[in-house]
Amino acid sequence: MSSELAGTDQYLQPDSVNPGRRRFLVAATSVVGAAGAVGAAVPFVGSWFPSAKAKAAGAPVKVNISKIEVGQQMVAEWRGQPVFILRRNDETIANLGKLAANGELSDPNSQASSQPAYVNPENRAIKPEVLVLIGICTHLGCSPSFRPEVAPADLGKEWLGGYFCPCHGSRYDLAGRVYKAQPAPLNLPVPPHSYESDDVIVVGIDQGAA
Ligand code: FES
Repeated sequence: MSSELAGTDQYLQPDSVNPGRRRFLVAATSVVGAAGAVGAAVPFVGSWFPSAKAKAAGAPVKVNISKIEVGQQMVAEWRGQPVFILRRNDETIANLGKLAANGELSDPNSQASSQPAYVNPENRAIKPEVLVLIGICTHLGCSPSFRPEVAPADLGKEWLGGYFCPCHGSRYDLAGRVYKAQPAPLNLPVPPHSYESDDVIVVGIDQGAA
């Protein structure tokens, strides 16, 4: 841990709500550089949230992603916004190319959508298996649901897993790329982020800038 990050800890806890359909973890994140007195890092037993003042200032947060299983998502918070962090499997990553090739996506390479230059233009990640997104629909700001199932009855047999916005029905793939002809005009944004280590992501600090 760098001295800049010293004194901060983070915790994860599994979310047991509706585990069959929406398996994800809720993360309590910590503010980088904050001087909060936090207990020893014992996973699954505690949480600590940034102060309102720190959030308003847009302080970076760091998130321990070590407990996210393949296919699972956790939700962190940065600048008062939900941040989706998904660990993708090989099949999911392979499907991303097929969707783009089939012409099903509105902005497959995110030329109009918000994402840092250092992520891969197609899979939208620094490491293909770990996706980081701002979880706010680009239509009118609802938070899309994580729907990783393939061909569920309510979304149709063509559905390969993705995000579904319950407000007006916008559909995104598992890279946060919006399908064509949806209310949402753009892909879900990828926030600035970087790796402190294999297990810790810092949201709010660009890769290479820490
Ligand atoms: S806010 Fe998501 S589709 Fe309208």
